[in-house]
Amino acid sequence: MSQPLLQLHDVVAGYGPTTVLDNLSLNLYERERLAMIGRNGVGKTTALRAIMGLVPLRQGRILFQGEDISTLNPHERAQRGLGYVPQTRDIFPSLTVEENLLAGLKHRPRSALDEAYTLFPRLAERRYNGGTQLSGGEQQMLSVARALLGQPSLILLDEPLEGLAPLIRLELLRAFRLMAEITGIAVIIVEQQINEVLGYASRAVILDHGTVVHESEAQALLADSDILERWVGMAVH
Ligand SMILES: Nc1ncnc2c1ncn2[C@@H]1O[C@H](COP(=O)(O)OP(=O)(O)O)[C@@H](O)[C@H]1O
Ligand SMILES: [Mg+2]
Repeated sequence: MSQPLLQLHDVVAGYGPTTVLDNLSLNLYERERLAMIGRNGVGKTTALRAIMGLVPLRQGRILFQGEDISTLNPHERAQRGLGYVPQTRDIFPSLTVEENLLAGLKHRPRSALDEAYTLFPRLAERRYNGGTQLSGGEQQMLSVARALLGQPSLILLDEPLEGLAPLIRLELLRAFRLMAEITGIAVIIVEQQINEVLGYASRAVILDHGTVVHESEAQALLADSDILERWVGMAVH
């Protein structure tokens, strides 16, 4: 296999006296869709924040496209091609859908907005609506669409399906599939909706106490209820 797109080598990070990521190591390859799952509080969000440079490393290093990015700030990492959609949908509520998208364009032409509208036709219908008039699912679409306009080669999604109705979750997952097909982007997706995320992902890692305790093909994990019960604490139907 070629060189991984992203490598975490024995990453240690935390907040104050607390260690959250405890020798976290993982590899992600081009075009991969990696599900990161595990119980509440095991460090999934912290892992995404560390990749993005929002939490400093105490030990270890992070390589992106073969280069050490451990000391780069979040803005520099975004410029290298990392996109991040935090758990709290990160939109400007006082701006319209279109204004929110324009804010994500950076130096690209306005016509690039069509990419977002192709992926999320609902956003095209709502383009002049304000952020506060959107449903939770539409806010999530906007948040993802805006991150994609920066043309990242890897996007980090933190619980994008949280709090959304089943039909909206399906619509989002469909858009995430299309996104991967059209752009070839690699994805790390943290999610509690285990059935849905393992149906979407190609590979999965389970975190516990800030480290990887299990790794497999997503489909194989979906069939392994013992492992899921043990590390995620849920039966899969
Ligand atoms: N800003 C913070 N300050 C202090 N502790 C935090 C902070 N954010 C998260 N934590 C703690 O770090 C641990 C891991 O949190 P998190 O990465 O959010 O887990 P997950 O996303 O897997 O639920 C938890 O014990 C949480 O309470
Ligand atoms: Mg979290």
